[in-house]
Amino acid sequence: MKIDILTLFPEMFTPLKTSLLGKACEKNILEINIIDIREFSKDKHKKCDDYPFSGGAGMLMTPQPIADAFLSITNYKDALKIYMSPKGERLNQNLVKELSKENHIILLCGHYEGVDERIIDLFIDKQVSIGDYVLTGGEIPAMAVVDAVSRYVDGVLHNSDSTEDESFFDNLLEYPQYTRPQNFMGLEVPEVLRSGNHKEIEKWKKEQKILQTKKYRPDLLENNNNN
Ligand code: ADE
Repeated sequence: MKIDILTLFPEMFTPLKTSLLGKACEKNILEINIIDIREFSKDKHKKCDDYPFSGGAGMLMTPQPIADAFLSITNYKDALKIYMSPKGERLNQNLVKELSKENHIILLCGHYEGVDERIIDLFIDKQVSIGDYVLTGGEIPAMAVVDAVSRYVDGVLHNSDSTEDESFFDNLLEYPQYTRPQNFMGLEVPEVLRSGNHKEIEKWKKEQKILQTKKYRPDLLENNNNN
């Protein structure tokens, strides 16, 4: 999968070079390109922002450098072009799965008060929000999208890290997990997990998923068929 990220702050994406995503890029399972919008500015000072016609506080990103950054990407027309914005569709695991089916995604990160609306009209297929709060820019939201989507790309996760045994699969939260020692500060690992009885363990996991969801995210149970 190829992901291009258009940003005024390329240095913010260093974390994507580490851990599982960094390894996936080294193995060419994933291609992540960080594109510096400022390099496309035709302004002699490489300026990329200006005052909004409407007046009011803040600056807007000007359309020319963003448009030229899009046009510089080979086959940009075939890619799914996403603008990270609090106005967008709220990111959840279903949307993550949907996005992971794409071969090529371009993520545009806004900054300041956002981008000139004509960029959205001319280039953007979809707007995505990571939650109902406003951040200083789309960089952290873009990183969340890249991280969550990459987990569904074949070869990024180790085989043992199944995406079918985690929170939000079937609209349920994951069961609690324990490692050694058996007793930690007076708390014991549940007996059933030490029993070796796989049927009982599976039953416990299923019950715990429902209990955890009831406790932490009861809203999810309204949309699921397990209860
Ligand atoms: N840019 C600023 N806030 C955002 C949010 N909540 N989601 C996506 N992009 C954003």
